[in-house]
Amino acid sequence: MSYFNYQNGELNAERVPISRIASEVGTPFYCYSTSTIESRYAAFADALNHMQSTICYAVKANSNIAVVRTLAQLGAGADVVSDGELIRALEAGVPPKKIVFSGVGKTSSELALALEKDILQINIESEPELERLNEVTQSLGKSAQVAFRINPNVDAGSHDKISTGRQEDKFGIECPKVSKVFSQATEMEYIEPIGLAVHIGSQLTDLVPFRSAFLKLHDLATGLMAEGFEIKRLDVGGGLGISYDGSPVPTSPEYAQLVSETLGDLNCDLLFEPGRVIIGDAGILVTKVIYVKKGPTRTFLIVDAAMNDFLRPSLYGTQHEILPIAQQTERIQNEASSLVDIVGPVCETGDKFATKLVFPAVNQEELLAIRSTGAYGAVMSSTYNSRALVPEVLVKDDKFSVIRERVGIDTLLGYENVPDWL
Ligand code: LLP
Repeated sequence: MSYFNYQNGELNAERVPISRIASEVGTPFYCYSTSTIESRYAAFADALNHMQSTICYAVKANSNIAVVRTLAQLGAGADVVSDGELIRALEAGVPPKKIVFSGVGKTSSELALALEKDILQINIESEPELERLNEVTQSLGKSAQVAFRINPNVDAGSHDKISTGRQEDKFGIECPKVSKVFSQATEMEYIEPIGLAVHIGSQLTDLVPFRSAFLKLHDLATGLMAEGFEIKRLDVGGGLGISYDGSPVPTSPEYAQLVSETLGDLNCDLLFEPGRVIIGDAGILVTKVIYVKKGPTRTFLIVDAAMNDFLRPSLYGTQHEILPIAQQTERIQNEASSLVDIVGPVCETGDKFATKLVFPAVNQEELLAIRSTGAYGAVMSSTYNSRALVPEVLVKDDKFSVIRERVGIDTLLGYENVPDWL
């Protein structure tokens, strides 16, 4: 259920007209809906309720502290990949014992912070990382529960840049090595190996690769159990996709059913790391048309959001649905739908949100919404072209709050120094 709907002729987030937020906050801005977050989380959690499971929301998808707190209050834990994300999760109120630390390149100081904060689990992705963790645990005299992320050599079939489970990818430990590494870890004084993890990529729209990966996880877990090791927990990662273009995608219950079919007989605790499926549809990016420029082959709608604010279309060539905030009456629609490119002001041709899109006639100064930008939107923004980081707004019922201010040029210049020889 989406909570971005047209009411009284314009798009609302829950019960707040988008134009009201725009007039107070300015454009562009990200706008998130609390009810959408709640309903997506509930759908995922309900699908798992017959399993012994923990949901660790992948903070990288949207790390705003108000978003993470919203989820923490619903009972979510956190999957973090840096010290910054760990600190955010704790600040947001996620209990340390619901935090898992993932990622291929955790530094000694990040591992030390994880130990100091006494988090649930550290996922180890290589032998050198295990050795490093061993050193850090010894120097601090603190123990760690560890799961080993396997590389199942399964192609997620998603975009190449976000497929992580093939043997040529940097992630995880190749299957034949897992037993040796697991057994090495049992010899380490402060390391408690408790399980295995897998994550083959993001935005999977087909359950088949998940099945292959979970079956490999099952085989490895069974093998380790047969060797006498205890496997308490299996971390199945994230990756469940959402529909950006209206085409059908697997549902949370279908995904949960697959997990239970492939791994249920092992009676392990299951840990899930969903990001996009929880927060993706809960956000829009609101932008204003600066110019309608008629070119020789097409019309450009030049908007005030750009690739620095929302990178996915430029980086992955993705297409997000774009809607005018003012509801298009039939009259306007019939009048002049035309083929447009929706582009930003950044000086790169790749700064483009849509190409040859059939779009209703809109005027300069009109507001547009780029949909399903709650995940991997604000978190991937930058200040390229010395543009501000855009504000983020959280809506709940009929109220809204700015949960990140616009970070403008004065603040950015404040971080820079001119050496005294200049
Ligand atoms: N767990 C691990 C270990 C991950 O690496 C990721 C995502 C997740 C969980 C959450 O995956 P999700 O459920 O959100 O698919 N920037 C890209 C997505 C990169 C995902 C990276 N890892 C995009 O905009 O599509």
